Amino acid sequence: FSAFLTDGFGRQHSYLRISLTEKCNLRCQYCMPEEGVPLTPKADLLTSEEILTLARLFVKEGVDKIRLTGGEPLIRPDVVDIVAQLNRLEGLRNISVTTNGINLARLLPQLQRAGLNAINISLDTLVPAKFEFIVRRKGFHKVMEGIHKAIELGYSPVKVNCVVMRGLNEEELLDFVALTEGLPLDVRFIEYMPFDGNKWNFKKMVSYKEMLDTIQQRWPELEKLPQEESSTAKTFKIPGFRGQVSFITSMSEHFCGTCNRLRITADGNLKVCLFGNSEVSLRDHLRAGDSEEQLLRVIGAAVGRKKPQHAGMFNISRMKNRPMILIEFSLLLQ
Ligand code: GTP
Ligand code: 5AD
Ligand code: SF4
Repeated sequence: FSAFLTDGFGRQHSYLRISLTEKCNLRCQYCMPEEGVPLTPKADLLTSEEILTLARLFVKEGVDKIRLTGGEPLIRPDVVDIVAQLNRLEGLRNISVTTNGINLARLLPQLQRAGLNAINISLDTLVPAKFEFIVRRKGFHKVMEGIHKAIELGYSPVKVNCVVMRGLNEEELLDFVALTEGLPLDVRFIEYMPFDGNKWNFKKMVSYKEMLDTIQQRWPELEKLPQEESSTAKTFKIPGFRGQVSFITSMSEHFCGTCNRLRITADGNLKVCLFGNSEVSLRDHLRAGDSEEQLLRVIGAAVGRKKPQHAGMFNISRMKNRPMILIEFSLLLQ
């Protein structure tokens, strides 16, 4: 495995998350403030050629999984073409997307033909009026349609990301679990994480232990499944159910020790940790005409600076960070 993608703690980074856009057609409360966020000028965003050049380089060095994120990746007009071109990269085993699901039903047939392997869809409530409150836009039925389209086209499991917030959707846990009885879903309950502008506080976070306890009271037969070492999720299943249930415990039990992820923001910054603030502009190096060797040295140095783990829930919540929508793509707001 490439020395450039291996950090000082021996973690091999084989999973690259690429943000395709800063824009989003929703305004989720936990992700950004109501008024949205200032956007980077188009000329400063990566072109699809630049994305492909970087992807090719990372895959050559050992990356075998690429996830397209955002903002909302499915509003980028050339997303199908980007997937098709990624699909030609030898050594890339998995191309996936994390989407809010609004445009999914419409685009999925083309994305599948282009080679998309897996889909994660955000959905935090099963109550349409509450959906509009949380995401500050309409679209519940479109997201449901997207989930059903993904199942119909054979994606299995279809991962559903549900950020759990006290007083907002915590009482829907059992309804979400019940969905996995008949559908091949992996419902993933995510601990609410602090980012700028999302008004996080400890009391609003429902911990993994608490969620597990609530579910076990209803389904004591819930059993733990083995998981990939680098997975963000702890996965369980109720015997006889088609789908499964997972927990992403970034706050109460972080999984930094086995992290294998790197991120490229829409404006071309390499970010080695979701909660870290060390970034380097690969875009500037590309546009300055750097050779592959020079780019790799820049990447290797950034990976080498990666911390063993994030700073801890309370430090993170006090840290100058940015809204989640800006995390996967922008320069650090210092
Ligand atoms: P898979 O590739 O299917 O395992 O999905 P994923 O969990 O890596 O990605 P997804 O985009 O579905 O994100 C689900 C949740 O995990 C979100 O709340 C992310 O913010 C969180 N997450 C993703 N990557 C990281 C990471 O590197 N560190 C931490 N702490 N959380 C992450
Ligand atoms: N805490 C936890 N998860 C979050 N996401 C966005 N903001 C937060 C937050 N504050 C999730 C979305 C999406 C994924 C990429 O990140 O639900 O599924
Ligand atoms: Fe958009 Fe996703 Fe942020 Fe919601 S969480 S506002 S869908 S980028």
